Amino acid sequence: MHAPHAAPTAETLRTALAGLLDGLPPRQAAQAVDRLIANYRGRTPTDAPVLRDRSDVAAYAAYRMPATFEAVRAALDALRERAPEWVPASHLDIGGGTGAASWAVAAAWPEGGHTTTVLDWAEPALALGRELTRRSPAAPLREARWQRRALTADLALPDATDLVTVSYVLGELTAADRGAVVGEAARTARAVVLVEPGTPDGYLRIREARDQLVAAGLHILAPCPHSAACPIEPGADWCHFAARVSRSSLHRQVKGGSLGHEDEKFAYVVATRFPAPAPAARVTRHPQTRKGQVLLDLCTPDEGLTRHTVTKRHGPLYRAARDTAWGDTWPPQEND
Ligand SMILES: C[S@@+](CC[C@H](N)C(=O)[O-])C[C@H]1O[C@@H](n2cnc3c(N)ncnc32)[C@H](O)[C@@H]1O
Repeated sequence: MHAPHAAPTAETLRTALAGLLDGLPPRQAAQAVDRLIANYRGRTPTDAPVLRDRSDVAAYAAYRMPATFEAVRAALDALRERAPEWVPASHLDIGGGTGAASWAVAAAWPEGGHTTTVLDWAEPALALGRELTRRSPAAPLREARWQRRALTADLALPDATDLVTVSYVLGELTAADRGAVVGEAARTARAVVLVEPGTPDGYLRIREARDQLVAAGLHILAPCPHSAACPIEPGADWCHFAARVSRSSLHRQVKGGSLGHEDEKFAYVVATRFPAPAPAARVTRHPQTRKGQVLLDLCTPDEGLTRHTVTKRHGPLYRAARDTAWGDTWPPQEND
């Protein structure tokens, strides 16, 4: 028997995925992945679900879920770091598909006291997501509600939800539907977490949604250390981060390649109804370590994007800079 509130991990998710795909011949899984990639490359937004049947969905889950899980986990870590006392009582996973973001929320709050509702228009994705959670140790996942719903301009979400996640979905929607989803999330949620691929286009969608969240009165908690306009000049650069994903042998088989891990690039924003103390800055690139110095590219409230050089002469700060990674806040918090 599972402990009622045991939190899932990337490992539990991989085990659940492996069990799920037991019956699917590797060749069929690989073909479904090819179809999926072609579809996703082709025509999005679509007017009908891309995930049409179980093999599409199983392929999506094996091919993408470990990575989207880690990207959402990283965004939730940033939220937890800024608001450590806050615990959601309810979670709405919009365009939740097979439930990667719901797994990430269950992992981020291992207390497991929240309810989970997943909305998606692809019934096979909901069915497989439900099946996967039966193998999960976490009560919020096992008891999740899986509801078929199209995300359209007249979308109406339940009135009070603590946490809304929209992960890897905005890029599949028309501009009008995107606006409706973000608007409804801003209206109903105490915390909104949006995650997109870490591409220039993914960043632009996050940037646009961020403006909408700020206009609706929310505070930006991460990645930005402020709620003012993004200092990046569109087209010149894009704000994104990377999450390490370990690959199971199944994942390698479906996705090809032999590396034990990969880095999932993602763009994200966390916005809350409540204010929280802001960090001084966030590291926006891999820090560069030179002899006796570390170069940190930072986003700051007052100077926008700036490069900061920390040398040996800075003592403990220099040691901290050597341990600092892309995506971290700077300087480190006392309890980091
Ligand atoms: C790339 S998947 C992401 C799934 C999941 N959130 C994750 O992070 O792994 C996009 C999901 O959005 C759903 N979706 C896309 N357009 C939709 C729409 N108009 N209405 C409802 N769901 C939609 C798809 O069915 C799919 O499950």
